[in-house]
Amino acid sequence: MSHSSSPLKVTSKSGNPLNGRISVPGDKSISHRSLMFGALAVGKTTIAGLLESEDVIGTAKAMNAVGAKCKKHDDGTWSVDGVGLGSLLEPEAPIDFGNAGTGVRLAMGIFATHPIAVTMVGDASLSGRPMGRVLNPLRETGAEVIARRGDRLPASIRGSETPIPFTYRVPMASAQVKSAVLLAGLNTPGTTTVIEPVATRDHTEKMLVGFGADLTVELNEAGERVITLQGQPTLKPQHVTVPGDPSSAAFPIVAALITPGSDVTVEGVLLNEQRTGLITTLLEMGADITIENERESGGEAIGDIRAKYSQLKGVTVPAERAPSMIDEYPVLSVAAAFAQGDTVMLGLEELRVKESDRLAAVARGLEANGIPCVEGDDTLTVTGGASNIGGGTVVTHLDHRIAMSFLVLGLASHRPVSVDDAAPIATSFPSFSPLMRGMGAALQEDQGTQE
Ligand code: S3P
Repeated sequence: MSHSSSPLKVTSKSGNPLNGRISVPGDKSISHRSLMFGALAVGKTTIAGLLESEDVIGTAKAMNAVGAKCKKHDDGTWSVDGVGLGSLLEPEAPIDFGNAGTGVRLAMGIFATHPIAVTMVGDASLSGRPMGRVLNPLRETGAEVIARRGDRLPASIRGSETPIPFTYRVPMASAQVKSAVLLAGLNTPGTTTVIEPVATRDHTEKMLVGFGADLTVELNEAGERVITLQGQPTLKPQHVTVPGDPSSAAFPIVAALITPGSDVTVEGVLLNEQRTGLITTLLEMGADITIENERESGGEAIGDIRAKYSQLKGVTVPAERAPSMIDEYPVLSVAAAFAQGDTVMLGLEELRVKESDRLAAVARGLEANGIPCVEGDDTLTVTGGASNIGGGTVVTHLDHRIAMSFLVLGLASHRPVSVDDAAPIATSFPSFSPLMRGMGAALQEDQGTQE
């Protein structure tokens, strides 16, 4: 399941303005969930616009390994023949989740309350990420868990035969942790409650309601989200239309803002307010961004995002905004390199446990390209406007968003920028290079870096 084992070095350089109207692939979070919830429903779920990336295909294979049938049709849509909640089968072999944190963590939640034994493995990046944040609360259901070094993959779960409902207060801002506990609650009799002090993306809640779960969200006196789920519903198959991924749209949008003469529109992008922190920040920086043709699709707001080359200025990004743009800090840091003055990003502790330690990876990448920055424990300050930037090779650490962010940097730098391995881009945005080239971007694969 992991992407090509040979690294693919890619270099980007400045030259052309970027122009065009494009669509980015479907949202990764919604794609994973549509396959998983489809697998737990009774009957056939259909999905239009599924993101066909390595991470999501991994989830389709994982659901097939426990008895569902996820398959692609000639018209490009997907269907999932669900087995029904409580009826998952024990897989024959360990399940490989590749690079996908969302895939493995949400699946852990599902497996914890099914009476099956499952072993989960991942690539070097996923095997280095903490799983205790999910495995520890899941133990409360009665599931047995073994993990390498206590909280790393490979890990095995023997799901509870008599799951126990519980109340969990999520200690960090993580939609994956929240979702894993809720998914465990699905096949648990009684009421599972998740308290979320800091709101994170709400796709699990919205989509579970769509699939027929009895789930409510209220704010308590402290302003925290209290999510209450009644266990063991019969989930009904749905038709899911997956909107464009705002975390992928971020790359062409920032590329257009920093490349003189550019005018780019990304059509049909999800505008869920838990996902639009980058757009808010870029507008504060003075970006010429407009949202056109706002509409609704599948219960979510979507729209076309138009971005034109802009003179940006540095801003302070408050910590409270982090959950709504958690995957966008690497590319925001690239925008900040072209802004006048300092951009100060606060509350970044979760960046340390992404596909790479993104705070360190971004700081090293900026430094390698002559861009001044200061890395704090959970902060990053980037000073824009340095002269003669570029010329460096960035180490991507198997992190797709580090690779794409620094390829965007090279499109407007004085000197070319290389990334040591662009292969992980296939985990979330396989069409990144052709789409960017189609708008005029100069991206070149270095010969001899892939077999
Ligand atoms: C995701 C949640 C976020 C995000 C990831 C997708 C999800 O992770 O970074 O790309 O689909 O729930 P955390 O829950 O670790 O913040």
